[in-house]
Amino acid sequence: MKGVVFTEFIEFVEEKFGFDTVDVMIENSGLSGVYTQAGNYPFEEIVALVTALSQESGVSVSELIESYGKHLFGLLISIYPHVDRFNSAFDIITHVDNIIHPEVKKLYPDADLPSFTIKERTPEKILLQYISNKGLQDLAKGLMIGAGEYYKEDISVTVYADKTPIEIEVRKNNG
Ligand code: HEM
Repeated sequence: MKGVVFTEFIEFVEEKFGFDTVDVMIENSGLSGVYTQAGNYPFEEIVALVTALSQESGVSVSELIESYGKHLFGLLISIYPHVDRFNSAFDIITHVDNIIHPEVKKLYPDADLPSFTIKERTPEKILLQYISNKGLQDLAKGLMIGAGEYYKEDISVTVYADKTPIEIEVRKNNG
């Protein structure tokens, strides 16, 4: 997994829980906790860090991953060079799979990205299938909510983890 996912995770934990929690998390995970943006690290390491953080903070793993996803969107969008191509959360969510991630893959051939298939798209709703070997549907949910916050749109995201493949529904809230 790309180093940026790790460096930003440490940043997120420090912001949300404070530096002491970062220390305890790294200590309890048994890892060195040293990451660089340009590096690439085993997926198991982020799992070990999130598990240690969940034990330390009492917040569930899935809540932590979702809330990290919200945070991560702001960073990803700031490093994505063609952000002005998109003008809404719906627009960006429908183009992650066919524009954004393929460009990421060109820049970083070692990136291991999920795929999203659009099953249904109306002006009010997008239904996607999430296909990945990582089970990071909560991260996807958080990233989509982050996109909603970025464009100041009121959207709801629901994960159907009992489906195969897992489905994610994004809805506009009219209110
Ligand atoms: C709403 C928008 C987005 C969604 C839903 C999304 C979804 C995801 C998910 C779920 C993962 C984790 C890997 C997996 O599940 O297998 C991921 C990884 C990643 N995404 Fe996105 N993404 C979004 C936008 C972006 C943007 C704007 C960038 C621009 C740079 C980006 C770059 C990456 C990178 C670098 C990784 C890490 C790949 C790796 O560790 O090998 N994503 N994305």
